[in-house]
Amino acid sequence: MPRSRRMLISAGPTHEPIDAVRYIGNRSSGRMGIALAEAARDAGWEVTLLLGPVALPPPLDVRTYSFETAAELEALLAEHFPACDVLIMAAAVADYRPRAACVSKLPRTEGPLLLELEPTPDLVARCAARKRPDQRIIGFALEEPGVLAERAREKLRRKGLDAIVANPLSAMGATHVAATLFTADGSVIRMPEAAGAPGRAGDSRFCAAVSKEDFARWLVAWIEGRQ
Ligand code: CTP
Repeated sequence: MPRSRRMLISAGPTHEPIDAVRYIGNRSSGRMGIALAEAARDAGWEVTLLLGPVALPPPLDVRTYSFETAAELEALLAEHFPACDVLIMAAAVADYRPRAACVSKLPRTEGPLLLELEPTPDLVARCAARKRPDQRIIGFALEEPGVLAERAREKLRRKGLDAIVANPLSAMGATHVAATLFTADGSVIRMPEAAGAPGRAGDSRFCAAVSKEDFARWLVAWIEGRQ
């Protein structure tokens, strides 16, 4: 009997500590990654979800590991990436973190407070650099609408991904997305249901908004067509 296919999904924001009670975060709700985990589970994949600090409950019957920081997500990826067939990196990873978090609570003073930030490693690019030829990696890109296609293609190349889902900034924290998929072989793919939606016809850069759950089912089906 062939073994079941394994999908690794990251979801949600990172929280990078400033001190014992404060952090730098972002508005990611984790909804897209959770929807992807549910869609893949329902399609028969063995799913592992790496879930950041979110208000939504984790999906049922999906092995879920929690992270708070980019460093914790990095450690989970190091542990779980080698065993997966497909990685979907939907987490909104911080690009910068405080160089040194204060272990106690910073007191208020009258003067300004300067935080020194250091860049985080590009986690999905690191996975791509060590992936086997049989593994597939799909990233996400959140961009201003006017530069979405151009920047998504640039990230796809720079990070060494197989495909990237490009979303306008409005997708973060929202229930719906207007996503377009760019692939390493140069294809630009829109969800068929949304492709001819009113107001967007003929605009090759965007598709109309669909629920994240519908998009997740579509993306899992697209991945299965490529396996
Ligand atoms: N990503 C990552 N590690 C980071 C930052 C981002 O793995 N330190 C991943 C995200 O999970 C996503 C993809 O890279 O799949 C694109 O994320 P995005 O924030 O759009 O791109 P950045 O590389 O962070 O570039 P910028 O913030 O300049 O747009």
